[in-house]
Amino acid sequence: MNFPELVQARRSVRDYDLSQPVTDADLEAIFGDVILSPSAFNLQPWTFVVVRDAEQKKRLRAASMDQAQVENCGAAIVVCAKLDAHNDAPAVFAQAPQPVRERMVAMTAQMYGNNAQFARDEAIRGASLASMTLMYAAKERGFDTGPMIGFDPQAVAEVIGLTDNFIPAMLIVMGRGTAPATPRGYRKPLGEVVKLETLGGRGLV
Ligand SMILES: Cc1cc2nc3c(=O)[nH]c(=O)nc-3n(C[C@H](O)[C@H](O)[C@H](O)COP(=O)(O)O)c2cc1C
Repeated sequence: MNFPELVQARRSVRDYDLSQPVTDADLEAIFGDVILSPSAFNLQPWTFVVVRDAEQKKRLRAASMDQAQVENCGAAIVVCAKLDAHNDAPAVFAQAPQPVRERMVAMTAQMYGNNAQFARDEAIRGASLASMTLMYAAKERGFDTGPMIGFDPQAVAEVIGLTDNFIPAMLIVMGRGTAPATPRGYRKPLGEVVKLETLGGRGLV
């Protein structure tokens, strides 16, 4: 599939063929793409918890407003946003020349270490970009996905054993879809969502 075809083909899917597993090899291929996603200072503020165990999916479903697709999918992936990813800067810049490394470590500590709200926003931003890569990488390999925010973050955190420096940013169900796509939902027109020069400027079309 070329990129426009991939974008057209990706839809939020809620019905999956449970006889078709998501294997470790599938995950390795998909997440090999995902880790190339962009992030501020390349801090990569994400960790993905892949849930395939039936009992664990059931617990996750209970924490997700009883949405059936969380249990009835090949894998339910919790995209976790790392709130203190700036602490990883020394490792991220380990190969950089020393002055660059020192500058990046100091800058990220100053920007994020002193501003928890900004660090949280950044973590969610990064995790969201990686989530989009995940959905396209999966579709390219024949898997459908469904992004979800309908869950209790505290309950999800407990099910997957999150530490305090992570929050669940998104849940993405994945598998081989069964139901044909329903008609695509309404999309706001280009002229409404693309403005030239200022928000009050002319619409693109
Ligand atoms: C952040 C986010 C949260 C969502 N949460 C849910 C959810 O909890 N349950 C659900 O069934 N769909 C959920 N969706 C799917 C949206 O309803 C869907 O993306 C939208 O209707 C557009 O349809 P499409 O993805 O097929 O283009 C979510 C999507 C996003 C991006």
